[in-house]
Amino acid sequence: MSDALNTKPQNTKTITINGKQRYHEPAPTDMNVEAFRQVVTSRRSVRKFTDKPIPQEVTDDCLDMAMLAPCSSGLQPWEFYVVRSKDKKAKLVKACMSQFAAKTAAELIVCVARTDRIGDYAQKVLHDWPTPNMPTLVKRYYQLIPYNYAPGPLNSFGMMKKAAVTVGGLLTPVPRGPFTQKDLDLWAAKSTALACENLVLAFRAHGFDTCMMEGYDEQRVSKLLKLPNGAFPIMVIGAGERADDGVFFPQIRFDRKMFIHEV
Ligand SMILES: Cc1cc2nc3c(=O)[nH]c(=O)nc-3n(C[C@H](O)[C@H](O)[C@H](O)COP(=O)(O)O)c2cc1C
Repeated sequence: MSDALNTKPQNTKTITINGKQRYHEPAPTDMNVEAFRQVVTSRRSVRKFTDKPIPQEVTDDCLDMAMLAPCSSGLQPWEFYVVRSKDKKAKLVKACMSQFAAKTAAELIVCVARTDRIGDYAQKVLHDWPTPNMPTLVKRYYQLIPYNYAPGPLNSFGMMKKAAVTVGGLLTPVPRGPFTQKDLDLWAAKSTALACENLVLAFRAHGFDTCMMEGYDEQRVSKLLKLPNGAFPIMVIGAGERADDGVFFPQIRFDRKMFIHEV
């Protein structure tokens, strides 16, 4: 490995490996695992918050960190609605069954997964590609995404693809979906949930707390935010300063042996 680093347009650093120029983003070595552990282990679902507001810049920073979560094909199928209007907030609290965590939260953020912008965002990746030359295979991949991910009317395209994949899959490993709208919903929800986790950890790192909530009336929340078809809330996150009695119970986790399998 050569250490000949140089800077290309858009600050892209490259390194020469076996005579070829490769993008180079070295892993930082000055990490503090104990600081990370403290954030992870001190995160609890907090259901009672104090009146202390969260500074706007803290919420913005946390949202920015949320959106650095990994996402399928880099397509960022998420949206975050920070509900600030008094009227909308009151309606959202009600839609969250007036849960304590919603009622007392300084901020309520509705985390939305979207399957309706896959084509647009694939185009955007093609347009915004960060290096001067987009590899041909990558370009082809993003050009095909709108077709590969389209379930078609009543999942008709998806069902045809599934039939083809089932046959093709007898001979070689193939990606098995997403084929249906339900598959796409799961596809978008996975990446959005990862961003949600980043969001709650970021609040914790800033000294604030959160409660993820799925106990809400999805229809009412969607209506309140005027979400289009193909967009659906996956959770509401209440955030604020932890009240002294904000954590209701000690944390329960089962024996790790139940979940970890070395095969
Ligand atoms: C997807 C999801 C939905 C949740 N929904 C609610 C909810 O509606 N109300 C609530 O009080 N807690 C909710 N929780 C919090 C869980 O009850 C909590 O994470 C779990 O009991 C473990 O506690 P801990 O988060 O303090 O470790 C939810 C958590 C997740 C991940």
